[in-house]
Amino acid sequence: MDDDVVRQAPLFAALDDEAAAALKATMTSREVSRGEVLFTEGDPGDRLYIIVDGKIKLGRASGDGRENLLAILGPGEMFGELSLFDPGPRNATATAVADTSLLGVGSDDLATWLNGRPDVARQLLRSLARRLRRTNEALADLVFSDVPGRVAKALLDLSERFGNPTDEGLRVAHDLTQEELAQLVGASRETVNKALADFAARGWLRLDQRAVLLLDIDRLRRRAR
Ligand code: CMP
Repeated sequence: MDDDVVRQAPLFAALDDEAAAALKATMTSREVSRGEVLFTEGDPGDRLYIIVDGKIKLGRASGDGRENLLAILGPGEMFGELSLFDPGPRNATATAVADTSLLGVGSDDLATWLNGRPDVARQLLRSLARRLRRTNEALADLVFSDVPGRVAKALLDLSERFGNPTDEGLRVAHDLTQEELAQLVGASRETVNKALADFAARGWLRLDQRAVLLLDIDRLRRRAR
């Protein structure tokens, strides 16, 4: 298990080594394969998860079967907390987009753990506040930005978490199909493909199977504004 990654998670950020080990002892490991659904929107929720390795997509489906992706999360990130802090059904479906290792903590254990630990509670609030900020930004982008701008922004966002510097540029192995990328941006696959092809023709990036090589990050940033 990658200890450093787990220690970055909001739940662990305020803990010393001893407390972190004690918390970890109350958590259970879970492995999910690429494509496997961990839980479905509307399910009762009783566990919070931290990603140790891999990637999880959080998505919502409309009545007619269309899907929208709220987020792609990677190592050190947490999800599944909403239905614990505000008891109710799962707000989104969690699916592995790569083989993924998770640590889970049940709501009762978490409540006991948070009692008398204001520092940990503060870190959790901070991560919820960040998520709200990010969601507000995505909402504004849906209204104010065009599709190419949203595609550029999504790629830069993915690069911050999944980017690997190479001699040629920043390689982002996002593991998403073009359909999933379109669901993340909130546009049709055709429009997103067109934007990607245009960026590639300008030399800003190179497309690869479930990955992208970012070649001109400055231009992409300007396009994302
Ligand atoms: P929960 O409702 O228990 O299960 C689905 C999870 O998706 C939810 O908890 C959050 O952890 C996560 N989630 C919901 N909305 C967002 C969002 N806008 N951005 C990132 N994660 C989210």
